[in-house]
Formats: sequence, C-alpha cells, structure tokens
Amino acid sequence: MTVVVKYCKLLLFLLVGFLIAAYVFHETVVKGKSCTSKAKLHGKTVIVTGSNTGIGKTMNLESGSSQVVFMQLDLASLKSVRSFAENFLKTEPRLDILINNAGLFNFGRTEDGFGMTFGVNHLGHFLLTNLLLDRLKECGPSRVVNVSSGAHNWGRVDFDCLNTHKTLRTGTSFVDGQRVYADSKLCNVLFTYELAKRLKGTKVTCYSLHPGVVRTDIIRNASPTFQLVALNGLRFFMKTPLQGSQTTLHCALHEGIEHLSGRHFSNCTARDVLAKAKDPVTAKKLWEISERFCDL
Ligand SMILES: NC(=O)c1ccc[n+]([C@@H]2O[C@H](COP(=O)([O-])OP(=O)(O)OC[C@H]3O[C@@H](n4cnc5c(N)ncnc54)[C@H](OP(=O)(O)O)[C@@H]3O)[C@@H](O)[C@H]2O)c1
Ligand SMILES: *[C@@H]1O[C@H](CO)[C@@H](O)[C@H](O)[C@H]1NC(C)=O
Ligand SMILES: *[C@@H]1O[C@H](CO)[C@@H](O)[C@H](O)[C@H]1NC(C)=O
Repeated sequence: MTVVVKYCKLLLFLLVGFLIAAYVFHETVVKGKSCTSKAKLHGKTVIVTGSNTGIGKTMNLESGSSQVVFMQLDLASLKSVRSFAENFLKTEPRLDILINNAGLFNFGRTEDGFGMTFGVNHLGHFLLTNLLLDRLKECGPSRVVNVSSGAHNWGRVDFDCLNTHKTLRTGTSFVDGQRVYADSKLCNVLFTYELAKRLKGTKVTCYSLHPGVVRTDIIRNASPTFQLVALNGLRFFMKTPLQGSQTTLHCALHEGIEHLSGRHFSNCTARDVLAKAKDPVTAKKLWEISERFCDL
C-alpha cells in the first residue's frame, strides 16, 4: 500500500514539475519579449501591408486609432503596386513608417509572370518601397520594417534561375514550396542590408525581422493535414498574433535603434545573421535584377 502511495506521490510530483516547467517555457520562450516602446504616433502615418488578417490585422487593431484606412494593394501585380503608391502619395501627405508585412507561400505566377512567392514577398515590396522612398525621406526620421522569417537561414538566391525562369526555384513539391519561401525571406534580409547602405545620410532607417512562429493564416496553402497538425498539435509552441507582432512593433517604434539600421531582429533583439544574408555582392546583384524586373 505505502509503495503505491509513494509511487503516486512521485508521479504527482513529476506531473506538477512538468506543468510548471511547461508553463515557464511557454511564458518566456514561446511568448517572447514584448515591445516596450512608449512611442505615440499622433499625426503620423503608417502603412501595414497585408493587414486584413494575421499579424498585420492585430497591429491595426492594437493601434487604437480610429483613422485606419483600407487601400487596395495586390503585391502580385506590379501595376497594382504602382497604382496603390500613386493613390497613396496623392491622398496622404505623410509617410512615417512602412511595414512590409504581407507574405505567403504559394505556387503559380504573378500577373507579371514571376514566381508567386518571390513576386509577392520580395518583388512587390521592392517596388512599393522604392516608390514610397522619397516620401519617407521627406518625413524623416522614418522607418521601413520588413517582416522576414527565421526561414531565411535555409534560403539561397539562384540568379541563374531568376534570369531564366523569373523565380527562385522551379520545383512544385511541398518541400520546394517551403524552400522558395525561405529563399524569398532571405531576399528580404539581403534587401534590408542593401537598403540601409543606400539610405546612409538620410533620416530613413530600415530593419528586417523574424516574428516567431505565429498562429495565423500563413499556412492556408498547405495540405489540410499539415494545417491540422500545425494549428492544433503545435498550438502550445506558437505565439498568438498579438505576441507575434511584438518584434515588428519594436522595429517600427522603439526609440534609439537607428544605429542598428539594416540589421535583422527577433524576440525584440538585433541578431547576427549568416554571412549569406549580409553578403554585399549578392545584395547588390539582387537589387539590380529587381530594378530591372520592375522597370525602375
Ligand atoms: N506566422 C508565422 O509563423 C510567421 C513566421 C515567420 C514569418 N512570418 C511572416 O509574417 C508576415 C505576416 O504573415 P501572417 O503570419 O500574419 O500570415 P497571414 O495571416 O497569412 O497574413 C498574410 C497577409 O499577407 C497578405 N497577402 C498575401 N498575398 C498578398 C498579395 N498578393 N498582395 C497583398 N497582400 C497579400 C494577405 O492578404 P490576403 O488575405 O488578402 O491574401 C494577408 O493579409 C509574412 O510576411 C510572413 O511571411 C510569419
Ligand atoms: C526572448 O527573450 C526573453 C526575455 O529576455 C527570454 O526569456 C526568452 O527565452 C527569449 N525567447 C527566445 C525564443 O529567444
Ligand atoms: C524589404 O524587402 C523588400 C523585398 O525584399 C525590399 O525591396 C525592401 O527594400 C526591403 N525594405 C527594407 C527596409 O528592408
């Protein structure tokens, strides 16, 4: 009898210990740091791309502003990007913060024939950022924030493939889909690096970041099984959209990080990236091919 009681006590002890450890893990590692900036944005104008759902939507809700304006933008169409920019520049006198948040992974082609993931995650934002750069400069100190991903670590930029196929990778398997997403996110990090160089001497600074693993619609194009496992089975390990927006907010708002322009952030902290994500030759080459693709 006493052996059983002892055994039960031990089990209970282990269970409580496990629950406490899981709780601490969730509260610190999963949730991560919060943006602590007290910045107020009265009179300032912010663009958040992709804000009808996910991280972007949460940021607009959290802004507390009643002056949120919807503007149509399809990053898979360079024409749409141009008309959005034209419309914005005509109707809004200021631009203080541009948050390039929209992103996806999907196959297929954009209106202009580019690989969808490359076209939306990289090229559309490239054109958008360039078209809005003068307004950002006029309104300095201003910021550009690129929502990239930790997945960029697995990416590569294949210029031959870009030149011949207008995409970063041609495969069509699920794994290829993941890889091309990583490639496009590597482009974001490289671009931020190159843009920071080009913005030296202006009052515009820029940052790229990994938001964490966040429960959003981002995997809407994955198989139903994958979605089921990811959204339910891994729930415990994922941030809510609010938690997932903290590093973006940090980069957009936190005072005194201007000297970190061009850097990559996660968990509200500047991080070192792999050599390939800050290689000046690749970054410059990518900038030039993107200019050509956008007829800039
Ligand atoms: N969730 C994560 O774990 C995670 C991890 C690392 C990085 N990220 C990055 O975080 C950012 C936000 O993603 P999320 O997690 O919030 O995903 P989400 O819920 O799927 O939201 C993505 C947003 O991008 C927009 N978008 C997609 N294609 C577009 C296009 N052609 N033109 C304009 N907008 C387009 C979507 O609009 P529609 O609904 O109209 O298509 C949506 O508003 C993305 O850049 C993503 O890569 C997310
Ligand atoms: C984020 O930062 C917090 C506070 O510094 C830390 O406790 C947590 O482990 C970090 N999370 C990750 C994923 O690095
Ligand atoms: C964000 O990424 C896009 C596409 O990679 C790039 O064109 C733009 O210059 C980047 N902006 C910043 C601030 O990094």
